[in-house]
Amino acid sequence: MNENADTTERPPLLIDQVIGQEHAVAVVRLAAKQRRFVLLIGEPGTGKSLLGRAIAELLPPTEAFCVASLENPDDPSCPRIVVRPRAELEAEQKKERQQERRETFSHNYLLSLAAGGILLLCGWLLIRDRAYGLSLAGVMALIWLWRLRKPGRTRASGRAAKILVERKAGPAPFIDATASSEGALFGDVRHDPYQSGGSESPPHALVEPGAVHRAHGGILYIDEIGNLSVEAQKLLLTAIQDRSLPITGRQSGSSGTLIRSEPVPCDFVLVAAGNVEDLPRIIPALRSRILGYGFEVLTACTMPDTPQHRRDLDRFVAQEVNKDGRIPHFTPSALALIYEEARRRSGQAGRLTTRLRELGGLVRIAGDLAIQAGLAQVDADQVQLALRYAASIEEQQLALPAGHDVSGLIPEFSARLVHSSSEFPCPRR
Ligand SMILES: Nc1ncnc2c1ncn2[C@@H]1O[C@H](COP(=O)(O)OP(=O)(O)OP(=O)(O)O)[C@@H](O)[C@H]1O
Ligand SMILES: [Mg+2]
Repeated sequence: MNENADTTERPPLLIDQVIGQEHAVAVVRLAAKQRRFVLLIGEPGTGKSLLGRAIAELLPPTEAFCVASLENPDDPSCPRIVVRPRAELEAEQKKERQQERRETFSHNYLLSLAAGGILLLCGWLLIRDRAYGLSLAGVMALIWLWRLRKPGRTRASGRAAKILVERKAGPAPFIDATASSEGALFGDVRHDPYQSGGSESPPHALVEPGAVHRAHGGILYIDEIGNLSVEAQKLLLTAIQDRSLPITGRQSGSSGTLIRSEPVPCDFVLVAAGNVEDLPRIIPALRSRILGYGFEVLTACTMPDTPQHRRDLDRFVAQEVNKDGRIPHFTPSALALIYEEARRRSGQAGRLTTRLRELGGLVRIAGDLAIQAGLAQVDADQVQLALRYAASIEEQQLALPAGHDVSGLIPEFSARLVHSSSEFPCPRR
């Protein structure tokens, strides 16, 4: 037991904060070094998301770049995609704007000269010969010339590149695409209600990147991967195979479906997670791709009850206290009850649970109770009390005779929670 639990430092790297998942940690370190895919399968709250975020910290930092869509003069419905440092892109854009302004100016200048000439000629013919017919023709020519002018400013701003992804030099991004719609995951093209008449948006300005594109150079994390539709999984497979994916409109009936950009880079490390029940819902081709270019890892739901793992639990409690920021640290006797509860929740002799989210809940409740009691440290009494509050509905039901008042039974129930492990088998409580 760590006497100095309140001074336990929270390790700066997330990977060093992971407890009881030695195998998963070793795999994740290797995957990050080699930029391999990872499928994390395990019980809820065993640290899968934590491991996913940890990989992002281990990846080498990325350089600054922008991915931008540009007008494609040869095929406006297929916007061009470029990857450049921002300064370079802005310099290119500036040069292009200057060139365009020059072209517009000389075009409109020539038209103005022609219009001036026609105007003079018409005036002269009108005064000298009263040639009304020719003058009318001159006015028609002026209208025609007016229509030929280049509006310049509006078109020039419409041609500005649209930045889809901008990355500053620094840590690799971690993009959590859990429960994203297909549009949010793979990008979309916005519907343009004004499709003609000069007020329409240029197609490249309607392109919106998806999570796969924003994760370029970093991690794409998808939890509950089994909930992704088969079509979405196939598209994900295409994205990881090609390391690029064009953006097209995804809402049927939208004008965006007529637009399909050039391929947009999406070279990411896929970290997918789920429960064992999700496995049959992952398409075999995707699993094969992950196994071929990465790892499948089953996170442990218990760990051996060793002095080292008890020290790890001390660290876990200190981490949760620091993370919460509002609750005090735990005394050794409070920690002893936490070990006891971790042992009980494992449901096996000589083991401790690694379903640490739920154990973290117990830590927070005990901390809240200590704050309520005005204490500077969490003591065994608060953990004891917290065990009553942290009970699940099923546990509360088990403790109640039919129709009995809940509040009256709580102390008795609490005693059963602490002293009986057979009644509430873990890990499936
Ligand atoms: N192995 C662990 N080591 C340290 N902390 C953990 C661990 N497992 C869970 N935790 C704590 O629980 C929180 C939730 O864990 P996490 O979100 O990573 O679980 P998960 O496995 O992704 O759960 P789910 O299946 O519900 O998505 C973490 O932020 C951390 O505070
Ligand atoms: Mg998770």
